[in-house]
Order: sequence, then structure tokens, then C-alpha cells
Amino acid sequence: MEIIEIVRDIQDFSESLRLRGKRIAFVPTMGYLHDGHLKLMEEGKKRSDCLVTSIYVNPTQFGPGEDLDKYPRDFERDERLSKDAGVDVIFYPPNSQMYPENYQTYVNVENITNNLCGLTRPVHFRGVATVCAKLFNIVKPHVTIFGRKDFQQLVVIKRMVTDLNMDIEVVGMPTVREPDGLAMSSRNAYLKEDERESALSLSRSLKRAADLYNHGQRDAGIIIKEVKDVIEKHPGTRIDYIKICDVETMKDAGRLDERSVLALAVWVGTPRLIDNYVFGENK
Ligand code: PAJ
Repeated sequence: MEIIEIVRDIQDFSESLRLRGKRIAFVPTMGYLHDGHLKLMEEGKKRSDCLVTSIYVNPTQFGPGEDLDKYPRDFERDERLSKDAGVDVIFYPPNSQMYPENYQTYVNVENITNNLCGLTRPVHFRGVATVCAKLFNIVKPHVTIFGRKDFQQLVVIKRMVTDLNMDIEVVGMPTVREPDGLAMSSRNAYLKEDERESALSLSRSLKRAADLYNHGQRDAGIIIKEVKDVIEKHPGTRIDYIKICDVETMKDAGRLDERSVLALAVWVGTPRLIDNYVFGENK
């Protein structure tokens, strides 16, 4: 496994693979790897001759006052896990490689970023779209693998790839969970012992919503109220949003069908955790 820090070096590396007809899969991450990331890598491995991952905590997707400085980092551990997962190259750039002096170009995906995380994190998706566009130009993958845990992010990336005619296949993978249901996230590392139980409020409330849906409930307002009740029963939780939206437009839905996603963002103590459930799907 190689570790490459310089943009030009990995561009040359990818170009030489492409010239030899090799297929490149790419899994972008911010590191502090967990089984969710490793599943994406496993899928990438199956779909390619060369698996590239990036480990880069991208400053432009964090707003002022968010956890950029505190974001968990452990490169040695990530290196070990990546190697075990069969990663061929880790792209591990310093900020000076990604955003050199005088940097001033950003990718703005419009309407679908106006709801959910886009509401409370106004610069977030601009940062995500920008860094992913850059990483795609740097790594030049044929296929890229994203997690559906960050549902809106996946929709944004698919939109950007379509709108900007990027010749890349975008694959979405199911959310990987702890045995008790908590969606894996690097930010779970912030949870204190007593908060860990309250963090289960997210997956428990999704389960409640799924049960209601499976018993025929289609009124978004009623489901949202039930979800809110489940979350609020857990101490230390503070709801950012609970929304039911169309899976493509990300617009709020009044009644739900198989095109609806329930998306949650909840602070549990320090971390803000997200989770989602697509109705009519078994997860
Ligand atoms: P990060 O949070 O490190 O996540 C990297 C990838 O792993 C994303 O595609 C995310 O959806 C996926 N992922 C995270 N937790 C998961 C889980 N429990 N199950 C399945 N997949 C999971 O998302 C980012 O980084 C950044 O925004 C990035 C795309 C790298 C741009 O900076």
C-alpha cells in the first residue's frame, strides 16, 4: 500500500493505471475509520483493479464553531485498517495541497442543499461538493463509493456528477450499525458513557417510524411527532431536525410513499448525530 500526499503524484499514478486499462475505485473519507468506511472499501475492492481512499478532514465543509479542530484523527490506525481492507493507495494531502494560497473556486449544488443539513450547516454542502469535485479530478476514479448514512450528501454527489458530466459511477451503500442499532460514525468517539444510551434514540425512533409505516400510516406529521416523542424521552438529546422528504428533490413531503426518506439530526451531548430511514426499504 502506498501513501501519497502530493496532488501531482497521484494524478500521474492514476493516469498510468488508466493508460494500462485498469479500473480505479475511490472511497473518500475524513479518516478515523470504522466498519462503515471498511464496507465501502470492500465494495470498491470488488469493483476495481485499484482501490484508492482519501483521508482528509476538509476544512471548507465545517462552519464556524463546528468541530473541525476537535475532529478525531488517528492516521496510524487508519493506515493499518486501510491496509487490512486491501487499499492500494491512501491519498493523504495536507491543506496546502488542497487549498493553496489564492484558492477561490467552489461548487454549489443548489435546491437540494436548501433543506435538512443545508439549513443548519449553510456552508457544509458547498465544502463537500467542492472537495469531492477536486478529489475526483485528482484521483480520476471510474467508480466512487459513498454511504447512505449521509443520505443528503449522496444525493448531492450524484446531482453534481450528473450536472457536471463527470464520467464516474456513484454507488451508495447501506448504513453499517453497531449491534445495538447505533449508526457507525467517527463522531461517536465524542460520546460520553451516559450519552451512548441516549444516542440510541435515533435508531429507536427510526424503528418506530418504520413500524408505523408498515402498519399503514402515511401521514408525515403524525410520524414526525412520534419520532420526536421517542427522541425526547432520552436525556441529553436536542433535536436539530426531523424531516420527511422526497428522496431526490429533498423537499418536505406531507404524505409518504416509497420515495420518502425520514432524516434526523440530533445533538447527544457534544456530537450532532444523523441517521435516516427510507420508507418501504428493509434495512
Ligand atoms: P466521512 O464522514 O469520513 O465518511 C466517509 C464515507 O463513509 C461517506 O460516504 C459516508 O457516508 C460513509 N459512512 C460513514 N458512516 C457510515 C456508516 N455507518 N455506514 C455506511 N457508510 C458510512 O462523509 C465524509 O467523510 C466527507 O463529507 C467526505 C465525503 C469525505 C468529503 O469530505
